[in-house]
Amino acid sequence: MSSTVSIIGTSVLALLLAGYMAQKYGLPAPPPKIVGVDLGTTFSSIGVYHAVSGDTQIIADGLGKRSIPSVVGFLANGSVLIGHRAVEQQEKNPLRTIYDAKRFIGKTFSEDDPQFIADKERYPFTIKLFENGSAYFEIPLSNSIKTVTPEQVGGIIIAYLKSAVEKEKKTPISQVVISVPAEFDEVQRNATAKAASHAVMEVRRIISEPTAAALAYGLHKKKGVEYIVVVDLGGGTLDVSVLWLQGGVFVTQAMAGNNRLGGQDFNDRVQHHLTNHIEEKYGKKVDDKEDLQQLRLAVEEAKIRLTTFPKAVISLNLKDLDSFNYVLTRDEFESINAELFDQITEPIAAALEDAHIGTQDVDEIVLVGGSTRMPRVRKLVGSYFNRTPNYGIDPELAVVTGASVQAGVIGGGWPLQVAAMELPSKQRKRHIYADKHIPSGGCSI
Ligand SMILES: *[C@@H]1O[C@H](CO)[C@@H](O)[C@H](O)[C@H]1NC(C)=O
Ligand SMILES: *[C@@H]1O[C@H](CO)[C@@H](O)[C@H](O)[C@H]1NC(C)=O
Ligand SMILES: *[C@@H]1O[C@H](CO)[C@@H](O)[C@H](O)[C@H]1NC(C)=O
Repeated sequence: MSSTVSIIGTSVLALLLAGYMAQKYGLPAPPPKIVGVDLGTTFSSIGVYHAVSGDTQIIADGLGKRSIPSVVGFLANGSVLIGHRAVEQQEKNPLRTIYDAKRFIGKTFSEDDPQFIADKERYPFTIKLFENGSAYFEIPLSNSIKTVTPEQVGGIIIAYLKSAVEKEKKTPISQVVISVPAEFDEVQRNATAKAASHAVMEVRRIISEPTAAALAYGLHKKKGVEYIVVVDLGGGTLDVSVLWLQGGVFVTQAMAGNNRLGGQDFNDRVQHHLTNHIEEKYGKKVDDKEDLQQLRLAVEEAKIRLTTFPKAVISLNLKDLDSFNYVLTRDEFESINAELFDQITEPIAAALEDAHIGTQDVDEIVLVGGSTRMPRVRKLVGSYFNRTPNYGIDPELAVVTGASVQAGVIGGGWPLQVAAMELPSKQRKRHIYADKHIPSGGCSI
């Protein structure tokens, strides 16, 4: 017993000493040993925890990006492109560019499952099933057919992230804390661990994404926090979790979601509004592929601008039409999307109901996912709970930040933190589907 204590004592002392030396003499901090990874459906990222300063650092790839598209492209000669480079060639190489692999990880399907049939039609690449029902992707190369599993795709992405850290920190990294959606069952969690093992990394812990988001804001160290609601509005889905925090242990009490409500839906409505406007005012139907692509990008840009400015100018240069500008105000954006904004509170109410608590019982609210940048979302959630949500951390990096904090805790970072633990959830997720109106004039490829 006493020898254990002294070993711990010595290592703490060593860390304290390292910290002191680093601060006094500007010596380099001890290199990180464990990293945090957010392996997301659309974007992934990796971070480290700095033992001396207590800061987390999210590491950029060679292109300077900290959010890496979870996209892997294979070339006919077998070369592999990852992240933004894979996205750049996606349009020219649809059969060999895999995205959304996480949706298939650790799941089994049957050939006649309508959901699986719909997925097969939805994706340009080929999806097949092993005899046991696990999915895999079939990629035609110039001289052969390559098969890759969703775990292998995940492994390729993790290996890419890992190499970015190794380059930046000039140290080999072999251990990881990885985040998964709260509703992932044990099979899906194991499959995620397998993805990491394909990247030759040992998984020290798997934590759920909402718990990671709460850790990013240091809520595990905050006094008097018992119930936390995490609202995650991403590109295509809304997920709400109720966490219960007791003595440094997080328990997921309830989950609810709408997997047909995300940033893209807001864009679709604005795009529909604009195509109607163009048709009414100029008598032009926008149906050309390049025109639509231009419109789509302009709408996304305007949405981002409206998160900080009250208006955005959409400049279009469509075929058979003089170039023209449309001034979109934030008020107009919000009224075009009023119905979607209204739907945000539905899963929140459902999750609170399942957790048997009311809004007044909630101590902290955390916003994650890029779409929570829309000011209206912040206001809406804030007024629903009658308190200000946590939103200071880049909402796309909150999960990886929390995974990195957890990695720091496990790696014995200094200053010592309250060890955050998580109990596996027995809860089932409640799904709320709203009718998704795909605007007829719009385009949703
Ligand atoms: C495969 O082709 C790409 C571009 O066509 C090239 O950059 C790459 O070096 C090639 N890879 C191999 C292994 O030959
Ligand atoms: C199903 O079989 C494939 C190929 O043999 C294997 O890679 C995969 O791990 C199996 N899945 C399960 C859930 O056992
Ligand atoms: C998941 O992995 C753990 C550890 O390797 C193992 O004990 C457990 O049986 C696995 N669970 C499932 C459902 O495969």
